[in-house]
Amino acid sequence: MSKKNIVITGANSGIGKAAAIKFAKEGFQVIMACRDMKKGKNALAEIISHSGSENVDLIKLDVSSFDSIRRFNEEYRARYKVLDILIHNAAYFNHGEKEYQLSPDHIELTFATNVAGPFLLTELLKDLLEKSDNPKILNACSTNIKHFYDPKRQIEFDNLQGEFRESRPYSVYKLYGDSKMALLMLTFRWADEFKDAGIKVNAVMINNIRNEWQSIKKFRSWYRVAAALQNLIASPTGMMADVYYHICTSEEYKNVTGKLINHKKEIV
Ligand SMILES: NC(=O)c1ccc[n+]([C@@H]2O[C@H](COP(=O)([O-])OP(=O)(O)OC[C@H]3O[C@@H](n4cnc5c(N)ncnc54)[C@H](OP(=O)(O)O)[C@@H]3O)[C@@H](O)[C@H]2O)c1
Repeated sequence: MSKKNIVITGANSGIGKAAAIKFAKEGFQVIMACRDMKKGKNALAEIISHSGSENVDLIKLDVSSFDSIRRFNEEYRARYKVLDILIHNAAYFNHGEKEYQLSPDHIELTFATNVAGPFLLTELLKDLLEKSDNPKILNACSTNIKHFYDPKRQIEFDNLQGEFRESRPYSVYKLYGDSKMALLMLTFRWADEFKDAGIKVNAVMINNIRNEWQSIKKFRSWYRVAAALQNLIASPTGMMADVYYHICTSEEYKNVTGKLINHKKEIV
């Protein structure tokens, strides 16, 4: 039987890297999709050394850029004929960042990275997923979406780009929450839309997982202190890697689609 292919975005750091190690150890062909090739190559060496598997590949992907996504798609097709699992793990979350940032396609950076990019990447790779005998998509969501349990908290559809940032509260933290909720909505939509194609689509509600220092450094003001303190009680990245693996490969979740699953591997 040939090896199964898995693409993990943002596999050079944190949970993505831990998941790459886990899947490589379990015999998958892992394709790391990373924007920074220097960081990617260092992580690739680490993943090979920790997993004991040479079946780890690296393709450049800046998921906030439509051009980069299209180039990734071409490069992936040049190397592989099938895609079995696609994990949308990469995300933009520089909490406390005051500077309003746009992607190369002029989409607010949080939405570009966490929603628009995964959307285009999925659309482009869908036919290769259809060639798998059990294709899966997993979206990395966050416990942050619990804010939406309050009916007053809504995605501001007229303010997705931060258009009203001068007159309404604007923060990357809030946009991050909105983007993760949008990714969850996309999970439900895709699950429905891809049913006939046999592609199972789920989301994982990630709780407090240890952040690498290089990620914490990107936070601003007290968010950096809060993240450093949270790290003291956070779970290791390997714990969430096991959750990713369980959702994508277990008998329990073989036919499950359109669900949000928490860190205890339970459907929410
Ligand atoms: N850790 C937690 O407690 C927690 C809680 C809830 C949800 N999550 C979610 O878990 C996922 C993984 O996060 P993590 O905790 O492992 O953080 P992390 O270590 O900072 O990993 C984030 C990854 O995303 C990559 N990335 C960011 N923008 C990108 C872009 N435009 N193109 C390609 N890659 C990009 C980063 O690459 P660079 O290294 O180049 O920046 C990095 O590899 C994220 O979706 C996050 O929202 C984490």
